[in-house]
Amino acid sequence: MSAPFKVGLIGLGTVGQGVVRVLQRNAAEIAGRAGRPIVVTHASVRNSTRTRDCDLTGITLVSDPAEIVRADVDVVVELIGGISPARELVLAALEAGKPVVTANKALLAEKGNEILFTARKHGAQLAYEAAVGGGIPIIKALREGLAGNGIDSLAGIINGTCNYILTQMTVKGQSFADALHAAQKLGYAEADPTFDVEGIDAAHKLTILASIAFGMPLRFDAVATEGISQVTAQDIQLAQELGYRIKSLGIAKRGAQGVELRVHPTLVPVEHLLAKTDGALNAIRVHGNAVGQTVYVGRGAGGDATASAVVADLIDVARLQGADPKHFVPYLGSRSEALKDQKVLSFSEIESAYYLRLRVADEPGVLRAITSILAESDISIEAILQKEPGENEDATLAIITSEIPEHRCNGALEKMLNLPFVRPGASRLRVEHFE
Ligand code: HSE
Repeated sequence: MSAPFKVGLIGLGTVGQGVVRVLQRNAAEIAGRAGRPIVVTHASVRNSTRTRDCDLTGITLVSDPAEIVRADVDVVVELIGGISPARELVLAALEAGKPVVTANKALLAEKGNEILFTARKHGAQLAYEAAVGGGIPIIKALREGLAGNGIDSLAGIINGTCNYILTQMTVKGQSFADALHAAQKLGYAEADPTFDVEGIDAAHKLTILASIAFGMPLRFDAVATEGISQVTAQDIQLAQELGYRIKSLGIAKRGAQGVELRVHPTLVPVEHLLAKTDGALNAIRVHGNAVGQTVYVGRGAGGDATASAVVADLIDVARLQGADPKHFVPYLGSRSEALKDQKVLSFSEIESAYYLRLRVADEPGVLRAITSILAESDISIEAILQKEPGENEDATLAIITSEIPEHRCNGALEKMLNLPFVRPGASRLRVEHFE
């Protein structure tokens, strides 16, 4: 067998240790698949005294990550996350013609066009399966397995933290704050959970998926994003009674008016596979014009699951070492000259069905006034639910609308909130039917 393929890891945290473990555990299969053994020879660490859950025999540890770029390695694996210094390190490796494997979705979504330009210019491989969906091979599925399709749309649970929180709220009736606290205790959510709960992490991942699906440059700036912190346990309960589960989805669609790129809490029909994906799992639905609907489910985070994706990239990179760059699978699936920027619609330009929850006085004529506003606004009601008030309490109304532009929904909601018997504090969430 040929000489080992030498790997330098920038970062030896949860994923880095997973990569060392998986390469050791499955060494024989991996060597058989790559045509040569793949071994970690160098790793950069921030704290050299920390104990690590993997065998570091034969690995040279360094403290300066730039040393990994300069080291005698065949590939640089960037696992530190964030924009800087990851961007500078990745660019330096690519400029030296070294292949790079990265799990860094923020870096790719926000600086990916520059990074891909550099990789192309220097004929260097760049692989990023672990950046989206952890261990789910969604990049390979989209870029290669579905390459014969025009992709119409994709929608995914691509943030495990949000899915864990919403599942806790659904199954245990917990408030958002309590469920977030539970996610933090389990190590799912960061101490500052903004990236997860405000949808930024999912927007990073959606940016990458949409570029591959629609053959367009990375457009993180154009993703319309709403977090899950406004979802209440009551919304989850009412949605269930109407036949839906609430999930945070990243949605990308292509239509005559342009491309939709959006992340928001979404009511999903209870019988759909995405509605049944619970806990910290990820699931991605891709609709192709030849294959129809396909769904990919699995662990979206965690050391070994994410390492599974990193190691798959390492095998691809090892197989192609020394090959003419024209034999690489194009970074975003389409050749660079075929990538076309497309108009991305803002929330106000997107049509959606809506779930509206209102608290109203328990008086005659209330329902008539509300349904009149909907009718005047040319909004059709798909479903309506009224909850009996307790003694001296307000009633609750939950309505599912037809597909309408956002401005029409907002206009009608504003009129309803101006009615004397409608209390402040309505809820408005989008609904997806996947038809
Ligand atoms: N914070 C991410 C999540 C981890 O909760 O899914 C992997 O990207």
